[in-house]
Parts: sequence; C-alpha cells; structure tokens
Amino acid sequence: MSFYSLESTSNLTEGYSRQFIIDGKDMLLVHSGGLTRLISTACPHNGYPLKKAKLAHGCIQCPKHRICFSLENGEALGGDAVADVPSLSRYELAEENGETGIYI
Ligand code: FES
Repeated sequence: MSFYSLESTSNLTEGYSRQFIIDGKDMLLVHSGGLTRLISTACPHNGYPLKKAKLAHGCIQCPKHRICFSLENGEALGGDAVADVPSLSRYELAEENGETGIYI
C-alpha cells in the first residue's frame, strides 16, 4: 500500500470540505471542531450528496432533511427522532510529512 496525499494538514481549517473520487468511491474530506474525517459523500439517511453540507462544532448537517452527524463517532444527532438513521461511512486517514491522506 502507498500513501496518497489528499491535502496539506495545515490547510484543514474549520469548515474545510473537499470531494475526492478514490478507487471509484465518492468521498468527502471534512474538518470541523478540530476533527478531520474522510466520509462517504452520500448522506447515510437517504443518499443526498453532502458536498454542500454545513460544517460546525464537529458536526456535518445534511442539506436535504437537516440531520446533523457527529464527526467524532459518525452518529446522527437528535435522539429518538433519528434512532434508525445509520452512521456516517468513514474511511481511515493517515498523516505523513504534514500531509493528510490515505493508504491505498
Ligand atoms: S438525505 Fe440527508 S438527512 Fe435525509
């Protein structure tokens, strides 16, 4: 496996969001609340694209039905109202020489 850089780590500031297609998978690199995550671009609720989702306080909010997902654990926030909504699909990130990326 080789390291594939996605972004300079110093560029990952609050609200950062950038879409990548890696191995045919549509992914979104996001940063909020001090957390950087590589997630599936498709909302786990109903598949709506998250590329224009709002990011704040370590959460990403889907524009379609406004469900917020925690970047910390991927869970939908909102208690019983979202109990059946799956968590965000996440991919493992790595950091090398000031670059954030993945091993593929
Ligand atoms: S499709 Fe994202 S909240 Fe419903």
